[in-house]
Amino acid sequence: MQLLKSNPIAAHNGPAGGLVVPDAASARTVRRVLVVNAKGGCGKTTIATNLASYYASQGRTAALLDYDPQGSSMQWLAQRAEQHRAIHGVAAFRKPTSGMTRSWQMRLPAETERLILDAPAGIHGMPLIDLVRESDTIIVPVLPSPIDIHAASHFIKDLLLVAKVRARSIRVGVVANRVRKQTRIYLSLQRFLDSLNIPFVTYLRDTQNYVQSSEEGLGIHEWQGYKIRQDRQQWEKLIRWIEGEDEQDDPQR
Ligand SMILES: Nc1ncnc2c1ncn2[C@@H]1O[C@H](COP(=O)(O)OP(=O)(O)OP(=O)(O)O)[C@@H](O)[C@H]1O
Ligand SMILES: [Mg+2]
Repeated sequence: MQLLKSNPIAAHNGPAGGLVVPDAASARTVRRVLVVNAKGGCGKTTIATNLASYYASQGRTAALLDYDPQGSSMQWLAQRAEQHRAIHGVAAFRKPTSGMTRSWQMRLPAETERLILDAPAGIHGMPLIDLVRESDTIIVPVLPSPIDIHAASHFIKDLLLVAKVRARSIRVGVVANRVRKQTRIYLSLQRFLDSLNIPFVTYLRDTQNYVQSSEEGLGIHEWQGYKIRQDRQQWEKLIRWIEGEDEQDDPQR
């Protein structure tokens, strides 16, 4: 582990901040993906951990930053056996212990290519702004219920008006999570997103593959389970969108 130069974008040292990324040259290739929604239980940790595990499975150096005091991402990482590709974890929700600076606590391996930030439920105001400042790509998971869809619309307005994602050129995409069938329930959200030029990136089905793989600190790309190919296909769209390989489908470009 190397102590790394602070990135000017991340120089702000707010409650969520202090993120230290590799030097300027590497920083150009680092992607910072924030998984966030103020609504609890919508799949933030599931998507964050599966994303980290996907990149690890591809031989990419991934770091998982857990901003949620529940520490679910760090618990997931703790289950991961040594024979699997390493993922660097940071318990970002913790305050640095005495004698330790925030920068030291948040240091990352020099070769880090992908940063995945797992946000806590209920986030709004300054903590949300601080987290958004650490990211260049935002994923908002939404469950297929009217209450969740309503809450997601409000949260996306917060991202636009309070966290000012457009002014910061941060891409925002929505992922429908725990979908049992292609449901009409998302139609109103789809219309809302269309009006804002925000893409509905993919649907992830409701499956025990996520639950079972997570018990071993793994994701669906490192796991064998019932209809797992279907799950991996659903992720392809999300990965392509994050990696910017779907430019023609993304109205934000
Ligand atoms: N696609 C899915 N299929 C089946 N179960 C899922 C799926 N996505 C999430 N879950 C389960 O739903 C529960 C909540 O998911 P998760 O912890 O990822 O949500 P969260 O948004 O991080 O919650 P919190 O707001 O508490 O941090 C977990 O038990 C998880 O295993
Ligand atoms: Mg969580």
